[in-house]
Amino acid sequence: MFQSWRKTILTLLILGLTRALAAHGGTEAAAIDPAVAEKNRKANEACFACHTEAGLKNPPRTDMDMKKLAETLRDPKVFAGSNHGTMDCRQCHGQGYNDYPHSEGSKNEISPCSECHATRVARLEPQYDKSVHARLEGVKAKFTCATCHDPHVNLGATLLKDPLKIAVQDNQACLECHDSDRVFAKYAPDDEKKPGIKKARPDIDTIHDWLPNTKLHWKAVRCVECHTPEVKANRPLSHEILDKEKAEKNCLSCHSANSSLRTRLYRHLVKEEVAQFGFTNSVILSSSYVIGATRNPTLDTIVIALVGLTLAGVLLHGAIRIIFAIRRKGRKQ
Ligand code: HEC
Ligand code: HEC
Ligand code: HEC
Ligand code: HEC
Ligand code: HEC
Ligand code: HEC
Ligand code: HEC
Repeated sequence: MFQSWRKTILTLLILGLTRALAAHGGTEAAAIDPAVAEKNRKANEACFACHTEAGLKNPPRTDMDMKKLAETLRDPKVFAGSNHGTMDCRQCHGQGYNDYPHSEGSKNEISPCSECHATRVARLEPQYDKSVHARLEGVKAKFTCATCHDPHVNLGATLLKDPLKIAVQDNQACLECHDSDRVFAKYAPDDEKKPGIKKARPDIDTIHDWLPNTKLHWKAVRCVECHTPEVKANRPLSHEILDKEKAEKNCLSCHSANSSLRTRLYRHLVKEEVAQFGFTNSVILSSSYVIGATRNPTLDTIVIALVGLTLAGVLLHGAIRIIFAIRRKGRKQ
């Protein structure tokens, strides 16, 4: 308790001294032809006749492996809200799925991300190759782009915009493994000392016990904020996931007016806001108050004052207890 208080106060004191101008972020728009999207949506209804909860309950035919089907369900609404929601399933899965039974071998026909995102894959593959998951023996072979990016579910940060929604989605991918023994074991290498036995998952909150209120941090900031190298303003996030030696431990990288959050997490905010105010204050204020990261001195002062008052209370309480303890000791002798 005292430890985390000391950290907080220390942070706040340094924060007060380090206010600087912030960098702005930008957004990107995706072009969609509504007529093509509608045609694709109609075509996908054929797949959803089977690959949904409704299809499983009320299958269009009876000669299917229902157990297998149950493992392949998709949610049409979630798909429609995803990056690829306006596409025809067969653009990625191929024509082998036109009929049921599906053609043999069509499972291996899935288009790799690079087929459509060649430029970006070329940019981020070298980063990804340096990341912990691509370097660790026993882990790298099981990792693909789709391990973190479910192409039927995810919506890119540029489209999500809201920093809290982005944090939840991007952290879900990491926590799905790092906060679940069952999933972690599927990807983990063998324990060095006990061959044949999977390495145990280190508890995510224990690893970060130097960080006050980890649960709140997981909701408000992304793992990748600390576990990827610093990027320039308006540049996409690096895919190099850094190991524990290189990860960011400096509170001020976020709790300061020119924090890295501005060039990363908050860069997805509407351009107009940045143009209007020169910074993203209103969203930070409306969605969460990141101590030290706003440019509102009054609010910072209030929070610092509140924290100071509470600390004074704690100190006074401690002092009184010490005085009483000494007096009690004195009486006993
Ligand atoms: C008549 C029901 C039905 C329809 C329609 C259907 N599927 Fe399937 N699909 C299944 C079943 C059942 C499985 C489970 C594996 C199996 O039995 O082949 C499956 C498996 C799959 C798989 C898992 C990989 C594999 O090959 O085993 C993919 C991918 C898939 N379907 C995609 C599609 C797409 C895309 C469409 C639409 C173009 C579609 N399916 C239409 C019933 C259907
Ligand atoms: C942008 C490309 C893309 C689109 C569009 C897409 N998929 Fe997929 N799908 C994939 C990839 C990649 C995988 C393999 C995921 C993995 O390796 O975990 C996959 C896996 C699947 C599987 C097998 C899952 C399993 O658990 O075995 C099914 C079923 C499936 N997709 C159905 C669909 C349906 C139905 C649609 C259309 C509504 C669709 N997909 C659209 C890329 C796509
Ligand atoms: C068959 C083509 C195709 C394949 C394969 C494909 N995508 Fe996409 N992807 C698209 C299209 C089309 C869009 C929407 C237009 C755009 O923004 O580029 C899109 C959008 C996205 C976006 C959001 C846009 C943004 O700027 O952030 C992400 C992220 C993404 N895809 C990741 C992936 C990943 C990861 C894979 C591999 C698992 C993949 N895609 C495979 C066609 C594809
Ligand atoms: C360890 C998890 C992880 C893996 C593996 C991963 N990504 Fe990402 N990726 C992320 C996160 C987190 C983001 C940030 C979210 C955003 O900006 O949309 C992201 C962003 C993206 C974006 C959108 C922003 C940009 O840089 O253009 C694309 C496209 C993308 N990834 C493609 C890929 C491809 C292709 C691969 C495989 C080579 C891959 N990713 C592997 C976690 C991962
Ligand atoms: C599919 C499962 C899975 C996903 C998703 C995943 N990881 Fe991992 N990660 C692992 C495994 C397994 C290891 C290896 C653990 C070991 O050897 O101790 C690992 C290792 C790491 C390490 C290195 C630990 C060290 O020893 O220094 C870091 C850091 C890390 N992951 C962060 C992340 C972040 C951040 C994300 C999300 C962007 C993520 N991981 C997504 C499974 C996953
Ligand atoms: C505030 C910055 C920060 C955030 C946010 C953060 N980490 Fe870390 N992480 C670190 C630092 C620094 C270390 C090294 C800690 C140490 O050595 O004491 C670390 C260590 C780790 C390790 C190594 C564990 C080990 O000892 O083998 C893993 C795995 C990891 N983090 C995953 C995650 C995941 C998953 C998330 C998101 C839920 C996350 N981190 C969020 C800074 C952060
Ligand atoms: C990657 C960015 C980042 C880093 C690094 C970071 N924080 Fe935070 N922190 C946040 C955000 C965002 C919030 C806002 C959460 C909210 O109030 O919704 C927060 C909230 C807090 C809070 C308020 C918690 C509460 O209980 O209300 C404290 C205290 C705090 N951080 C202290 C620290 C300390 C000390 C460090 C360094 C050891 C640190 N933070 C490192 C982003 C970060």
